[in-house]
Amino acid sequence: MSGAHDDGWGHQVAVVTGAAGDIGREVVEQLLARGVAVAGADLRPSTEEDPGGASGRYRFDLVDLTDPRATEEWVASVVQEWGVPTIGVLSTGVSGNARLVDTSPEEWHRVLGACLDAAFFPARAVIRAMIRGGVRGRVVTIGSWAAHAPHPHIGAYSVAKAGLRMLTQTLALDHAADGILVNEVAPGIVEAGLSKALLEQDPALKQRTEAAIPLGRTLLPAQVARDVLHLASPQNLVTTGAVIVSDGGLSLASVMNPGRSDG
Ligand SMILES: NC(=O)c1ccc[n+]([C@@H]2O[C@H](COP(=O)([O-])OP(=O)(O)OC[C@H]3O[C@@H](n4cnc5c(N)ncnc54)[C@H](O)[C@@H]3O)[C@@H](O)[C@H]2O)c1
Repeated sequence: MSGAHDDGWGHQVAVVTGAAGDIGREVVEQLLARGVAVAGADLRPSTEEDPGGASGRYRFDLVDLTDPRATEEWVASVVQEWGVPTIGVLSTGVSGNARLVDTSPEEWHRVLGACLDAAFFPARAVIRAMIRGGVRGRVVTIGSWAAHAPHPHIGAYSVAKAGLRMLTQTLALDHAADGILVNEVAPGIVEAGLSKALLEQDPALKQRTEAAIPLGRTLLPAQVARDVLHLASPQNLVTTGAVIVSDGGLSLASVMNPGRSDG
């Protein structure tokens, strides 16, 4: 596919999962703006306008990415239409809201499925296609600040995101010799998805949340997408297995040092 820019981004093909979600959608838009052809997939259709417009550089498929066969078929159909993806961005996820002992088996599978299975299966399919096609591509997972330490109120999510970090780093090491770079973006509290809904519903929660973040501010999906594009950039030649934590210092703070002058 050819694109509007010739700075290394045009002629690239990206697959983006969770493309109907707030962060996935923003990643799609930023890639399209650089001339990349983008194939998005999600469990649900987007509620917003087709981001590709008349460009012919965007396609969207409804795929349950916890289903390995459906995932393989989706990636194969992208390869058939546009060639081997050079970029994979894995942005599916759901969060629970319970301690581990209060988490039902169904909820456990729902969270681990959306955060881990739905990252592993597309990563596997995309990396296999890259290896077969001799493509030295880039894969970026969307993890979370919640991966770095136990977060008991979102137990299954915290476990899943810690697992995603190890998945990312294991793939990075496994495929360094193939020239494939695999990295993670770990956002803090983003005005996106479930967090956005909760923060909008409850202004007091938004105030408490901002007060707990050393920089005093949440993130917008565009800031997460900017980190994703930094790692997926053709200018990134050696960063692999890395984590960009963009959380306003949230994961650094503790009771002893909340990182605020009024703390
Ligand atoms: N919003 C935040 O505060 C925040 C913070 C840190 C990390 N994250 C992570 O960012 C990523 C994107 O989240 P978001 O905030 O945009 O939420 P979102 O709910 O808007 O997007 C997530 C998307 O994943 C899709 N999805 C879930 N399971 C799927 C499956 N099996 N197959 C296909 N699609 C599936 C959902 O349908 C949804 O559209 C997630 O990995 C999330 O954990 C979000």
